Amino acid sequence: MSHPRFTPAARVAKFDQDVWSIFTPLAAETKAINLGQGFMNHPRGRPRLRNALAASYSSEFGRDLNPDTEILVTAGANEAMFATFAAYLDEGSEVICMEPFFDQYIANITMNGGKPVFVPLRPPAHAAERNISSAEWRLDIDELKSKITDKTKMIVLNTPHNPVGKVFSEEELLAIGKVAEDHNLIILSDEVYDRLYYPPLQKFPRIATLGNLWERTITVGSGGKSFAATGWRVGWLIGPEHLIKYSFAAQTRVVFCVNSPCQEAIAAGLEASLTKPIFADQTSAYLAKRSILSKVFDELNLPYTMPEGAYYILVNTAKIQLPKDYPFPALLDTRGNDFKMCYWLTKEIGVCAIPPSEFYTKDHWPLAENFARFAYCKTDDVLHQAVDRLRNLKPYITK
Ligand SMILES: Cc1ncc(COP(=O)(O)O)c(C=O)c1O
Repeated sequence: MSHPRFTPAARVAKFDQDVWSIFTPLAAETKAINLGQGFMNHPRGRPRLRNALAASYSSEFGRDLNPDTEILVTAGANEAMFATFAAYLDEGSEVICMEPFFDQYIANITMNGGKPVFVPLRPPAHAAERNISSAEWRLDIDELKSKITDKTKMIVLNTPHNPVGKVFSEEELLAIGKVAEDHNLIILSDEVYDRLYYPPLQKFPRIATLGNLWERTITVGSGGKSFAATGWRVGWLIGPEHLIKYSFAAQTRVVFCVNSPCQEAIAAGLEASLTKPIFADQTSAYLAKRSILSKVFDELNLPYTMPEGAYYILVNTAKIQLPKDYPFPALLDTRGNDFKMCYWLTKEIGVCAIPPSEFYTKDHWPLAENFARFAYCKTDDVLHQAVDRLRNLKPYITK
């Protein structure tokens, strides 16, 4: 089957297979003494980790993943995405991103000549009055369709979503997948929080497993997120060989390969997870953290989005009355209004949250101006201390 839109970017199309990945496997296969390579490397990732990923993810994807051709180990999810944008975007290629977006996508797309095109996830109108579930943030499929042009190459999906916490349902994924099929687009599915979704969800839906979407989907994972070890910089891509091979071609020229000790450590973690309830235990721990933090917002009567996955709570700050004439620094003048709220929270309440307008284009900053993002991937003692400090917000809350 030909995939005219799956053609690689000109910058990688001309890459010959690198010399190392021709001769190192050949030496191994023929049992030749390898005096060719100065250092033993496995640019696709160490076999132990690729095998552990195949063992862990084959059941998740409902297919026997080939550790040699369908899995690529990367320097964290960030580099996985950078390499994929480098692999597929030419000057002016358009990439659909959903707002709010994880901020790295935008620079990674533009650095590779691409143009991000935005379509918002919107909360319901009652989100300012009462708590909602992240499931209530919705994508308008017609709006998505209206953004597709003949330059569109890719749709970036993020589920569980940062910062909303939304886990896209099968129905939503199928609708997005249909748009990708109708326009022959690649789907880059950022699933770095795939091990962190909460009851009542029983299953994490993956777009690559639905219909024929496997053939156009590259899924991104992160050892850093799965094992709370972001500094280790180990991530991966999973997808069909015809797509992964160009991400591999780009990654060979970006980082070449990933640090070995951390790959071994992540492999050990994944192997252990096959027999021990590591991810279930981790989910229970995060669930407890989610309730430590969310309770204080209940106490304060500040509405928030209860996340179905990941570890962020988006709080609606509209009821917090900032003191008049507060001396905000000039650097905030050019930013969204939510920067002021988060600045004040940090300076006066002693709890730092992130202003989510950073995850929107400037035109859409108003959509974010009444929100602040609080992360609960912290030790319980830190969370309890934050809760104590947040109680000091009481006198500033109207209604
Ligand atoms: C949605 C999302 N994607 C990707 C990443 C990057 O993951 P990694 O640390 O593996 O590069 C993050 C990290 O915060 C994230 O939130």
